[in-house]
Amino acid sequence: MKFSCSILAVLAAFTSAACATGNVRMLTWVVKPDSAPNDGISVNETISSLNSTVPNDSEMNYYANYTQLAWSTRRIAVANEVLFNKVQVFAIQGVYTRQMTDLIELLGSNWVYEGVGRDDGVESGEYVAVFYDTDYIKSLSYDVFWLSNTPATVSKYSGAGSYRIATVVKLSLISTGDDFTVISTHLDDASNDARKVGASLIRYRAAYEASLKGEPVFLLGCLNSSPGDSSADAYEISTGTEDMVSINSDFSANYTSAISNSFYFIDVLDATKPERRSGHFSTVSGWNKIGDTSSFERSSFGFGSSTGGWLAQRYRVGENFFDDEYHQSLHRPLYFDVSVGVPAM
Ligand SMILES: *[C@@H]1O[C@H](CO)[C@@H](O)[C@H](O)[C@H]1NC(C)=O
Ligand SMILES: *[C@@H]1O[C@H](CO)[C@@H](O)[C@H](O)[C@H]1NC(C)=O
Ligand SMILES: *[C@@H]1O[C@H](CO)[C@@H](O)[C@H](O)[C@H]1NC(C)=O
Ligand SMILES: *[C@@H]1O[C@H](CO)[C@@H](O)[C@H](O)[C@H]1NC(C)=O
Ligand SMILES: *[C@@H]1O[C@H](CO)[C@@H](O)[C@H](O)[C@H]1NC(C)=O
Repeated sequence: MKFSCSILAVLAAFTSAACATGNVRMLTWVVKPDSAPNDGISVNETISSLNSTVPNDSEMNYYANYTQLAWSTRRIAVANEVLFNKVQVFAIQGVYTRQMTDLIELLGSNWVYEGVGRDDGVESGEYVAVFYDTDYIKSLSYDVFWLSNTPATVSKYSGAGSYRIATVVKLSLISTGDDFTVISTHLDDASNDARKVGASLIRYRAAYEASLKGEPVFLLGCLNSSPGDSSADAYEISTGTEDMVSINSDFSANYTSAISNSFYFIDVLDATKPERRSGHFSTVSGWNKIGDTSSFERSSFGFGSSTGGWLAQRYRVGENFFDDEYHQSLHRPLYFDVSVGVPAM
C-alpha cells in the first residue's frame, strides 16, 4: 500500500491528485468577547486557582451560575472543548486579540491560527479566524476581505453594525496531501442588506476557489440568519435558493470562473445521514437559565461546496453549559466530520 501510495504521490506532483481520502474534524464557534474589563489574570494564575478536590454528590449545586462570566474563567472550558473533541480545524468568531493569545497558550504549541482583527486588518476588533492543529493540518495560503462595497480595503458596509470580514484559508491534510479551503465569517447583526452582500461575496469567492482544482470549500460561521427567516436572506443566498446581489466589480473580475453563478453551498446538516446527526438543534443558548429557550435559533452553520470533493460523516451541535460549570459562550460549538479527497462531482 505504501508503495502504490508513493507512486501516486509522484503522480500527484503532475496531476494534483491526492493520494487517499482523509477525514477532518472541524469546529465553528462564536466564543464571544471578553466583555468584562480585562482583569489581567494570566492563564497560569487561573489554572493554579482551580480546586483539585473533587466534590461529593451532596455538595453539588447544579447549574448554579448561568450568567456571563469573565473570559479568564470561560477560556479553560473553551479550550477543553477543542482538545477533548480532537478538533483539527477551528473556525472562531467573536474574540479579541487577548483571547486568541490565551487560546494558543491553552491549546498548545502545535496550534496556530490565520486571521486578523476586523477593524484594522491587524489586531483591532473581533477576529474571524481559523485555528488548526499543525500535527494534522498545514496552511498553504490565506487572505481576508471585507464584506462591503470595497472588499480589498478596511471598510464597513453602510448601515452595518460592525466591520465584517471573511478569512479564506487554503489548508492541506498532511497525512494524505488533500487540499481544501476553509472560509470563516460572522455576518452583520444589524443590516440584512449587509448580510446579503456578505453572503454574495463569499459565495462568489468560494466558487472561484472550487473552480481551480475541484477541491472542496467549506464555509464555517455565524450568518445572523436562520433558514426561512423572512427578514434574513443570508442562508438562502449561501445555499443558492436566492440569487446573489450585486457586488464590487473589481472583486467579481478578480474571482470570475465558469461556476460563478452555478456554485452554491450545501448545509452539512442536510448532507449528513439522519442517523449521524446528533446534539442540539439551536446553535445559540443565550446566557440563560437552564431550560430557558427564549434565545434559541440556528444561526451558525457548516457548509460544503456544491461541486463535491467531500462527504459529510457526522454532525453535532455540542453543549456549552455543563452542570457543574458556567456558560462557555452565548453560542454552542458546532462540530462536523468530513472526508476530503473524494472525487469531485
Ligand atoms: C505557565 O506554566 C507553565 C507550566 O508551569 C510554564 O511552562 C509556562 O512557561 C507558564 N507560562 C507563562 C506565560 O508564564
Ligand atoms: C474545594 O472543593 C472541595 C470539594 O467540593 C470543597 O470542600 C472546598 O471548600 C473547596 N476549596 C476551595 C478553596 O474552594
Ligand atoms: C461531602 O463533603 C462534605 C464537605 O467536605 C462533607 O462534610 C460530607 O460529610 C461529605 N458527605 C459524604 C456523604 O461523604
Ligand atoms: C456568578 O459568578 C460571578 C463571578 O464569580 C458572580 O459575580 C455572580 O454573582 C455569580 N452569580 C450567581 C447568580 O451566583
Ligand atoms: C483585484 O486584484 C488586484 C490585483 O491583485 C488587487 O490589487 C485588488 O485589490 C483586487 N480587488 C479586489 C476588490 O479584490
